[in-house]
Amino acid sequence: MNNENQLIEYCKDVLHYAVFNKDEQSNEYDIEVSDHGLVLKPIFPITYQITEKLYNDIYETLNLALTPELTLIRPLSMQIVTFDEADRNVARGIWFPWRVGKAKRLTMDFATLYKRYEESGRIPIMDIIDWDYRKSPHLIVTGVSGSGKSFFLSYLLKMCSRVGDVLVIDPKSSDLARWARHQPDVDTVLPAFVDGSKIGNQQGIGTSYLQAVNKRLKDVEILMYRRQSLLYQKSEKVSTDYSELGLKPYFIIADELAALMTGAPKSLKDEFQSTLTRIVVLGRESGVYLVMAMQSARAEYIPTIVRDSISVRLQLGRINSENTKFLFPELKEMPMIPLGGKGTGIISIAGDDRYAGIEPVATPTIKE
Ligand SMILES: Nc1ncnc2c1ncn2[C@@H]1O[C@H](COP(=O)(O)OP(=O)(O)OP(=O)(O)O)[C@@H](O)[C@H]1O
Ligand SMILES: [Mg+2]
Repeated sequence: MNNENQLIEYCKDVLHYAVFNKDEQSNEYDIEVSDHGLVLKPIFPITYQITEKLYNDIYETLNLALTPELTLIRPLSMQIVTFDEADRNVARGIWFPWRVGKAKRLTMDFATLYKRYEESGRIPIMDIIDWDYRKSPHLIVTGVSGSGKSFFLSYLLKMCSRVGDVLVIDPKSSDLARWARHQPDVDTVLPAFVDGSKIGNQQGIGTSYLQAVNKRLKDVEILMYRRQSLLYQKSEKVSTDYSELGLKPYFIIADELAALMTGAPKSLKDEFQSTLTRIVVLGRESGVYLVMAMQSARAEYIPTIVRDSISVRLQLGRINSENTKFLFPELKEMPMIPLGGKGTGIISIAGDDRYAGIEPVATPTIKE
């Protein structure tokens, strides 16, 4: 028996006990495998029902049974493939994408990572996962304290500041702000208490800082409209973007986005959220991208429309159904196997055919 047949037999054995536990059901489906995934083809008539639950059960069973040889990718919804030439009762199957082996964490110095960017035009995340920001605009990272959000954001800040222009928003004035301090080209909005001018200001970061942030975001919004108007005037193509004008991308990089809003009056929060919404919804063509981190993507911190317009989603740290429901509402059960360790979790990249759903991730470790 060759490897492929052995793999198919193994999957059938595993599913026989866990999912298709009536003996006759083993003859009611077929399995085909490739480097990219598995197709389970029901042979109608069947005694089981094809439901989201069945799909999840099969996914969960195979996921555990095949790791680490294969890494299953969790599609955002049930995937059906069709076989147009096949007999009527076997002309479709359910698709389970996977990767051969595991994606590996990048552990190297920044210069080497940057070289990878220069070679591909995409920002490296793991050895075989990278971010094509033009196809998949905007990025959000969530996770509990200490899970690696700021660490990853600092890496993205270093990358993005070489790739394009950046605006840094850092209410805690931690990793991002400390790095940006020594970069004359990097624009930063910091709370007033950091530069020592307003220590003890009772308004805290709540009011004055959010005011300052809102003002800067308005400037970015104007830049975005200016670029769109240029595109309208200069481009003859129906489908185009800012790169046609020879412009650089503009990244807004914001850590602890929710902290920005704590204690601020509602009018300021509303202004902030509506500017953010316009930027995220309209930013792609003009090359204005939002990269942000927060503990949780609860709707009171981030409007649903913003969350749903962000192509790249990462959740770091402990992954369970309680905390994934905000950023990954489509992940009802908890069928992910995290890689383990600092800066690990799950990722989904929309808008790029190379990625089929939610999969484990480990953010780069930059060696000094
Ligand atoms: N990819 C990584 N490789 C190596 N170490 C990492 C990685 N990601 C995070 N760490 C380590 O974990 C520590 C905590 O990460 P970080 O400060 O980014 O967490 P955080 O999610 O921003 O926490 P908080 O919510 O408290 O700000 C970092 O100081 C770093 O030492
Ligand atoms: Mg942090």
